[in-house]
Amino acid sequence: MTTNLNGKNVVLGVTGSIAAYKAADLTSRLVKEGARVNVILTTSASKLIGPLTFAGLTHRQVTTDLFEPTSDMGMDHITLAKQADLIIVAPCTANTVARIAHGEANDALTTTILATEAPVLIAPAGDAHMFVNKTVLANIELLRDQGHLVVGPMEGRLASGLIGGGRLEEPDRLIQYARQLLGTDGDYAGRRVIITAGGTQEAIDPVRVITNRSSGKMGYALAEAARDRGAEVTLVTAPTSLPDPAGMEIVNVVSTSDMRAAVLSMCAEADLLAMPAAVSDFRPASVSNRKIKKGDLPELSLALEKNEDWLPLATGPRLVKVAFAAETENLLENAAEKLRNKGTQLIVANDVSDPDAVFGSETNTVTIIDDAGGQESLPTMDKFDVANRILDRAVVYLSAPG
Ligand SMILES: Cc1cc2nc3c(=O)[nH]c(=O)nc-3n(C[C@H](O)[C@H](O)[C@H](O)COP(=O)(O)O)c2cc1C
Repeated sequence: MTTNLNGKNVVLGVTGSIAAYKAADLTSRLVKEGARVNVILTTSASKLIGPLTFAGLTHRQVTTDLFEPTSDMGMDHITLAKQADLIIVAPCTANTVARIAHGEANDALTTTILATEAPVLIAPAGDAHMFVNKTVLANIELLRDQGHLVVGPMEGRLASGLIGGGRLEEPDRLIQYARQLLGTDGDYAGRRVIITAGGTQEAIDPVRVITNRSSGKMGYALAEAARDRGAEVTLVTAPTSLPDPAGMEIVNVVSTSDMRAAVLSMCAEADLLAMPAAVSDFRPASVSNRKIKKGDLPELSLALEKNEDWLPLATGPRLVKVAFAAETENLLENAAEKLRNKGTQLIVANDVSDPDAVFGSETNTVTIIDDAGGQESLPTMDKFDVANRILDRAVVYLSAPG
């Protein structure tokens, strides 16, 4: 899987918070995604975690002192500020929040931030009382006014033993926000994108449902890929075991009719609707409002009625639609027919005759069919890479931004 962090120059500022140890995890994840990471430690951070940890993870020198440059060019802050595609400050103390907010330049980190044109992602952390302090909150607002993306702090258990709002946002979500910032000027910038995901559930009684084997991974990958290309994404998701992706609106639904209501309410304003969710074709004709007991009946047969196909009802002045067809036989014929019947611009045909190769898997093998009859068969690839190939095809259908 290749994300937009690959090959990017990221400056990671680490400040004197007890959460500084989590910056090592963040660094390792950034490096794994292919970023070149230059770490700047504040003097306080250096007392909590050593530069050697970051040097070991990044294979690069770590800047700790404005007046003891590590690069040949003499001025680390200027070199780093210029080279940076993105600056992240995580964790960011209340002190450094104040210093950035007020334009101070009294160490390598704050001087680099003043001197850069790169986007800045700031993740504050500290004890709960700090982040209800009016001055700290006003400083955070200043950071937002300056155009920085401030993420967290989050609610949870803190190092002090308090439960409250001071936790550093989780490193894997910070990575996602970083990708979102890097994609701000992408080919989906300013586009509203709706993605459906997961397998809908149709109730039989209060404890039993009819559902399917969709894991939601393809839909989540599409939502993340669209976010990383600048889109404003709404993910309409049936229950899955996946964590919520960062940097998008999440609408949780259960049944096909919930999903239908959520999606149809948004289409008028949307540019793209992609529907990898596995929606139930049938639902129980009647739902018992109490648990059906084994002893109640000698056997149980379920009468099912059809869920109406609502994709044709999803319309909007700018809406481009991508349907998905999971088939076990005559894949391409069935998918092409579905595309004609549903009036979508693209359909992604997915052979599920070997369900273990698709459901829950990290990879997928699909053929993309377009409304002119063109077919593109992709090799087996990571679902995130498949998502980007689908978005490459869909972008050409979008109307001129207006
Ligand atoms: C063990 C320890 C943990 C600390 N954790 C935090 C923290 O999580 N958040 C915070 O705002 N300050 C925290 N502080 C206070 C900061 O280290 C202090 O305000 C310092 O001046 C911050 O400097 P810096 O912003 O340049 O890194 C902590 C201090 C100590 C001694």
